Amino acid sequence: MSRVNYGAKPIMFPQPVLIVASYDENGVPNAMNAAWGITTNFNEITISMSHHKSTDNIVARGAFTVSMATEDQVIPCDYVGIVSASKVPDKFARAGFHATKSEFVDAPLIDELPMTLECRLKSFEGGLLVGEIVNVSADESVVTDGKIDPEKLKPISFDPANNAYLAVGPKVGDAFKDGLKLK
Ligand SMILES: Cc1cc2nc3c(=O)[nH]c(=O)nc-3n(C[C@H](O)[C@H](O)[C@H](O)COP(=O)(O)O)c2cc1C
Repeated sequence: MSRVNYGAKPIMFPQPVLIVASYDENGVPNAMNAAWGITTNFNEITISMSHHKSTDNIVARGAFTVSMATEDQVIPCDYVGIVSASKVPDKFARAGFHATKSEFVDAPLIDELPMTLECRLKSFEGGLLVGEIVNVSADESVVTDGKIDPEKLKPISFDPANNAYLAVGPKVGDAFKDGLKLK
């Protein structure tokens, strides 16, 4: 193996494309793209987060939702990551998104994105947004036999080496099981 070194860079594969949604002080929904986030406990998500209009909303309301970006929504999902609601107040509507209030937290679900983590704000400190996951919801259209089905959901991932969005590929193994063959 001959390795190429890239220095200190925030590169991992795959990275999720998370669409973080919140309500502003007037109840107008907003959304932003976040690719540096991951679950950090059974009921916790942590996102590397700068200061945005979204973070003002999240701190004021104490809540946010995190939806998976999907193949059929690449353009609006990228749009909400390159435009700020502080400059374009109707950004959410311009993205073509429609909001339904979460039953669980004071934040919007995005009708166009079928799978969502509904979160209560735990903390926003030191560039880390931490949320308590109080519910996960998925539209029936992406559920098979009661389980969320990635082949129906078609989530995308972020390629930080090339600034690209990638499709998530087919199943290649069974977790907690395939390794048993070497035990
Ligand atoms: C692919 C992509 C990934 C991004 N990931 C993050 C991230 O992890 N953390 C962050 O603070 N901003 C991230 N951003 C930037 C925000 O989405 C962007 O600044 C957005 O306009 C903020 O919107 P707002 O000001 O309306 O809240 C990302 C943008 C893109 C396009």
